[in-house]
This record gives sequence, C-alpha cells and structure tokens, in this order.
Amino acid sequence: MKFFVDTAIVSDIVELNDYGLVDGVTTNPSLIAKSGRDFKEVIAEICNTVSGPVSAEIASMDFDTMMAEAGCLSRIAPNVVIKLPLTLDSLKACRKLSDKGIKTNVTLCFAANQALLAAKAGATYISPFIGRLDDLNLDGMDLIREIRAIYDSYDFKTEILAASIRTANHVKEAAKEGADVATIPPAVIMSLANHTLTNKGLDQFAKDWEATGQSIL
Ligand code: G3P
Repeated sequence: MKFFVDTAIVSDIVELNDYGLVDGVTTNPSLIAKSGRDFKEVIAEICNTVSGPVSAEIASMDFDTMMAEAGCLSRIAPNVVIKLPLTLDSLKACRKLSDKGIKTNVTLCFAANQALLAAKAGATYISPFIGRLDDLNLDGMDLIREIRAIYDSYDFKTEILAASIRTANHVKEAAKEGADVATIPPAVIMSLANHTLTNKGLDQFAKDWEATGQSIL
C-alpha cells in the first residue's frame, strides 16, 4: 500500500520523506488554509520536495472554471494531480482531464456509487473518507470493501486512496481491505512504528549489551 502524506506543512513532508515513507502528498482547501501559505507557492514547493504525485484541489464548482483552474494547477509541476470533489460537473471535468492524460483524484467520496461514477469518468484516484463516516457511527471501512469489490469486478484502473485516516488502526484496516493508497496525517505515520513492547525490548537489549562491555566498532 502506498503512503501519501495528508498535509500542506512542508517541514512535516521533508521529515517523513527523509525516512523514505512518502510515496505522494494530498492537500485540500482546509489543509492549505492551515498552512497559512500561498496555494500555488506551497504546491510548487511540495512538488519540488517529493517525486510522487501531489494532489492540488480546484476551488470552483462549474465545469468551465474547473477546467481553467485545472490547467493552471497542472502547469505548476509535472507531478501535480488535479483533485476534484464528487459532483457531476467535476466528473465531466475528470473525464476531459483523464482523456488528456492529466491525473485526477476524485474526493469527498462517501458511497460506492460515487466511486463507481469516478471510475467510469477515468479518475486516477478515488478518495473515500473513512473517518467522517466513522464520525456518524457508520463503518468507513465498509466503503473501502465495497469499492474494492466493485473495482475488481470490472477491472477498473482507478486506485482506491483511503482518506480521512485518523488512527493507526485505520491504516491497518485499509491495508487489509486492499486500498491501493492511504493518505495519512504526519502524526499517524510517525505513530506506526511505535509499540510498547518494542520499546521495552530495546531497553532490555541495551542494558544487556552494555553489561557485556563490548563494542561493535
Ligand atoms: O484527505 C482528506 C482528509 O484531509 C480529511 O480528513 O480528518 O478532516 O476527515 P478529516
């Protein structure tokens, strides 16, 4: 499963990239607002920081303006992916962009039929929001399962990009359900390596090694 980092904070991306944990980056208007930075400037910096795909979301809701915005964003860097919310105008834009070979990420997906429409529109990625379904006491992972089953039945090439990931458990479950990608907040990625027993075992190894009085170097 590919790891995309879900943030527009460049320092977090750089740190995780140094660990070899970044296959791509996703942003959205809320994450851009949190960064407090100029949209096109921060996208350009992120695209220059990672070699993988970087999702940049359009802001308009009508087809013609979407296409103009997508053109503008695509010109920032070759690894920009155009992020489009799941509406009929966006699906029309998705089809046109995909036919031009421009990668797309259809977002704000909460139902399998929406994901079916995105795949039929040639989306590169579909972003089902797990956490926001869980917030409503629904099971966000059910949606991943449904989309996986539908896509596999028709050999759709659209990649399932599990989004709205809130916990390490979401990462594990999304991987178990066959999501192609998970876009994960930096803090959650950092937490994946942690386990109490690992830390406890490492402490004991260190104590026992010190007691030998030996050195490897
Ligand atoms: O990738 C979508 C993500 O940024 C939304 O996360 O926690 O606001 O549902 P959240």
